[in-house]
Amino acid sequence: MSLSADFSIIGHRGAAGIEPENTLRGFKRALEHQVHAVEFDVYQIDRELVVIHDDTVDRTTNGTGALTDFSFERLRQLDAGDGERIPTLIEVLDLVPPSVGVNVELKGPGTATAVAEVLRQYSHRQLVSSFDHEELRQFVAGGSGIPIAPLFGRWRENGLEIARALKAHAVNISDRIAIPERVTDIVAAGFACHVFTVNDVQRAKDLKEMGVSGVFTDRPDLFTEFT
Ligand code: G3P
Ligand code: CA
Repeated sequence: MSLSADFSIIGHRGAAGIEPENTLRGFKRALEHQVHAVEFDVYQIDRELVVIHDDTVDRTTNGTGALTDFSFERLRQLDAGDGERIPTLIEVLDLVPPSVGVNVELKGPGTATAVAEVLRQYSHRQLVSSFDHEELRQFVAGGSGIPIAPLFGRWRENGLEIARALKAHAVNISDRIAIPERVTDIVAAGFACHVFTVNDVQRAKDLKEMGVSGVFTDRPDLFTEFT
């Protein structure tokens, strides 16, 4: 499974550089620029799966406080930018056509089982990722068969062992650590490798040369030559 046949342009939190991140408006904008896939972040609040990046609402909404202090109903009353609401996972999956891939990042604890349950009802190409490798392990143990990718902001000496133990499809790494030798090692070990977050077209071309399978970008409007 890959997010596209060749080199994937993945709308990061939708189109976070040009629209409010992780909003339906942002995902629509990414789709207008023909992205191969969209990426977004999921927490579970009040047994509902919501699409938001931080564990507080302060940065991305007109509210303040920890996510876990909100009921789902109160979260939905917040303005997530330009009058947008914080979307649910289901709203995003209903918006994105099945021809476009989805990369769901498990942010909060306890998301693995609930996300698998929802995703199995949709036919998009799917990739589930997380910095929380234990949450990913639980996701894999659930037996959905949906491809997964551990995320690394800093490289770990045992990064490839972690990926092997998870039977990962991809190893997704920060641009800060995307050096040629590392990408070569990841690809030689049989994993796809996607890099976050890349807003420079020449850098994306260089990464593609190295063997990277795709990039997450806040600026899908700049990447249409790949799509
Ligand atoms: O999955 C790539 C990227 O989204 C991970 O970093 O902080 O934007 O969620 P972050
Ligand atoms: Ca993310």
